[in-house]
Amino acid sequence: MIALTLAEVAAAVGGTLDGADPDTVVTGPVEVDSRKVSPGGLFAAFVGENVDGHDYAATAVEAGAVAVLASRPVGVPAVLVDSVVEALGRLARTVVARAEGTAVVALTGSAGKTSTKDLIAQLLRRHGETVFPPGSLNNEIGHPMTALRVEESTRHLVMEMGARHKGDIEYLTSITPPRIGLVLNVGTAHVGEFGSQEAIAEAKGELVEALPADGAAILNADDRLVRAMASRTKAKVVLFGESPDAHVRATDVRLDATGRPSFTLTTPAGSAPVQLRLYGEHHVSNALAAAAVATELGMTVDDTAAALGEAGALSRWRMEVVDRADGVTVVNDAYNANPDSMRAALRALVSMGGRGPERRRTWAVLGEMRELGEDSLAEHDAIGRLAVRLDVTKLVAVGGREAACMELGARNEGSWGEESVLVSDADAAVELLRSQLRPGDVVLVKASRSVGLEKVAEALLADGAAR
Ligand SMILES: Nc1ncnc2c1ncn2[C@@H]1O[C@H](COP(=O)(O)OP(=O)(O)OP(=O)(O)O)[C@@H](O)[C@H]1O
Ligand SMILES: [Mg+2]
Repeated sequence: MIALTLAEVAAAVGGTLDGADPDTVVTGPVEVDSRKVSPGGLFAAFVGENVDGHDYAATAVEAGAVAVLASRPVGVPAVLVDSVVEALGRLARTVVARAEGTAVVALTGSAGKTSTKDLIAQLLRRHGETVFPPGSLNNEIGHPMTALRVEESTRHLVMEMGARHKGDIEYLTSITPPRIGLVLNVGTAHVGEFGSQEAIAEAKGELVEALPADGAAILNADDRLVRAMASRTKAKVVLFGESPDAHVRATDVRLDATGRPSFTLTTPAGSAPVQLRLYGEHHVSNALAAAAVATELGMTVDDTAAALGEAGALSRWRMEVVDRADGVTVVNDAYNANPDSMRAALRALVSMGGRGPERRRTWAVLGEMRELGEDSLAEHDAIGRLAVRLDVTKLVAVGGREAACMELGARNEGSWGEESVLVSDADAAVELLRSQLRPGDVVLVKASRSVGLEKVAEALLADGAAR
């Protein structure tokens, strides 16, 4: 963290000092877990469901914390505030405002935020110190915690911004005002909470409304609702996608036999071939988005293409591909699912299966996509049908009503049951696969996060040592 005195911290958060010396300097980092506190740090005390951070204030100070950010006196030096969550946000805002040499990049979208955030970070860190959150840490606590890691030497801060409600993104952009704002897509994720795709677009567009006139709004040219956000920003608009008018484009998109895409990247600064290490065609869009950000920050097209080719998956359970010793390939995409990502994952699965006489059998072990609202059953039906149309060898639908609907879709589209089966839970899916998998098969595992289908992938991998 950029060093601040406790007096400056108190002023930033609108708090009062309790038993603390105003001239003491906080050098950071800020921690919410007393076991992680290091000398010079600040301990933020949260009242959780099971634990009250205030009970660990003394431990944190013993470990070297110079003070505790708390909502009541704790008997050790403290900055007292009404709300520790809001205080963290305000502190982060102060730190980011002081970091004049740091370009803030923020991104949102229905699917692919974490994957794209990881890609952007892997490109930008070649050109300077880059701070970005691990995994999907993007809520009202995780977001400021990441921003508070910014130092004087930080050149880029890359932030993922999720929206569950109107105003969420506006709040996050008030903490870390972005210069570059990227909107990936407006899918159907959380449509249950928002009511419609238009309402989702309304909320995600808050990101481009927050951009300054000298900033850049990086928008998906292939997504109607994202493209329309161009009218909601003062910033320069940069379009990416496969549309002919996109500024950052992909042409000659191909998937190789392992499901990894290659394409020609074209930017206003020239063209270069890209071969991704990531699996699935949906990463083309994510890679273009990342390339547009890198281009905007001055990276050359050759450098961007090379960095894209080296970038790996930093966050787990997103198209994680592992070959078992017996030649069974397990694709763990159980981190999350919505109709768009289900379609992308099915297409990647089929391309990994290959064509012709060498074709491998493909299994799609799919669970429920949650929070889809009134379209839920129709969306599940459509995924079942798509599995059959893409010629997936077998759909294993896992779960209750939604899974049954998906399986019924497959039956209606195909030859009544040969291409699909319904099982009640993850254990039943594992049992079925154990009895039926043959060397060389490819298995995709995917569902909404809360279904916990990664259990299936983990069990299959435990069965056969990785190659
Ligand atoms: N551009 C894309 N279009 C459709 N699906 C995608 C895209 N990028 C990634 N996915 C898929 O969406 C799922 C979630 O990916 P990721 O974690 O990157 O998204 P996210 O937007 O961060 O999700 P969350 O809202 O849960 O944080 C993964 O299963 C991934 O394979
Ligand atoms: Mg995420």
